[in-house]
Amino acid sequence: MITDKHVFITGGAGFIGSTLAGLLVERNRVTIFDNLDRNTLASAPFRDHPNLKLIEGDVLDAEALKRACAGADLFVHAAAIAGIDTTLRDPVRTLTVNLIGTANALEAAMTCDGLERFLEFSTSEVFGSRAWQVDERVSAVVGAVGEARWTYAVSKLAGEHLSAAYHRQHGLPTVTVRPFNVYGPGQLGEGAVTIMVRKALRDEDVLVFGDGTQIRAWCYVDDMVEALWRALTEPRAVGESFNIGNARAVTTIYGLAQTVCRVVGSRSRIVFRPALSADIELRVPSVDKARELLGFEAKVDLEEGIDRTARWIRDNLEKFPEMPGIFRSNG
Ligand SMILES: NC(=O)c1ccc[n+]([C@@H]2O[C@H](COP(=O)([O-])OP(=O)(O)OC[C@H]3O[C@@H](n4cnc5c(N)ncnc54)[C@H](O)[C@@H]3O)[C@@H](O)[C@H]2O)c1
Repeated sequence: MITDKHVFITGGAGFIGSTLAGLLVERNRVTIFDNLDRNTLASAPFRDHPNLKLIEGDVLDAEALKRACAGADLFVHAAAIAGIDTTLRDPVRTLTVNLIGTANALEAAMTCDGLERFLEFSTSEVFGSRAWQVDERVSAVVGAVGEARWTYAVSKLAGEHLSAAYHRQHGLPTVTVRPFNVYGPGQLGEGAVTIMVRKALRDEDVLVFGDGTQIRAWCYVDDMVEALWRALTEPRAVGESFNIGNARAVTTIYGLAQTVCRVVGSRSRIVFRPALSADIELRVPSVDKARELLGFEAKVDLEEGIDRTARWIRDNLEKFPEMPGIFRSNG
């Protein structure tokens, strides 16, 4: 575990960033830098913790970012335009924030004396539409130009290359993680589990886009965050990238809808709709590298994770009435 560090987290008010902040805040100083586009932190029990500082700012503001990260030991760059539906609505902002924001974060990190780690987030989307037990040596797929979905993957892939270049050329201690479909308490963006649970809790129709045979592996957020602190502390992680996911929690999208309805005890109908964008047919990671170098193993099974997510959504529905109602892709 991490103790007595100053941890700087861009996007730390978001789903994964705030879960990490919650894990670290008792024993470290945590500074969150976020423009509060999304704000899971607002409902977090630790939001007023004396070790936590929130700076409202935009990663496109390079100077503000440099000022904010001064004195950081560990730099986590989680700020991004994330979620496929958001990408489809605003591919320009997706590319701008994810590309330029990451470039600004890397430049800011270069000004931190004695920085021990710069951790940045790529995505499993870089493996394209068919990715069966993909490991880190598999070539990335950039998709067709003009298909908005792939702007997210391309922006993240460019961020990976940029981080690797800062490591190679400037010796910055970078590490990249590629999350595979993370879900859990605190997710306000358009994750399929979150949206299905929300609908199921209200007995509304649970929508499946396409034929429902698309396959995903679902990673509970606590497992994701365990991988993060391991990547922030393990010396052999420097200069590496890691697939992070739960290769055992695999289901089709139709199977996911059925599981959600059963676990939640819902009377919802499962309703099929035509696919509205390019989709991922198959995505299951190999996490052998993370297991070997980081000692990481996902622990939370899908049903347990869905149950915990449903409890959180039940408790927080009123705080987040704007939680996603849209759901055009399958996460
Ligand atoms: N959740 C997943 O399944 C998943 C999968 C692959 C990759 N990722 C990556 O993990 C990281 C965290 O994702 P998340 O699920 O927590 O998403 P999230 O949307 O909940 O968090 C992102 C945070 O970034 C902030 N942000 C957005 N634009 C900003 C800007 N211009 N300046 C400052 N802050 C800004 C938002 O307000 C939000 O708090 C992202 O980089 C995302 O691309 C997530």
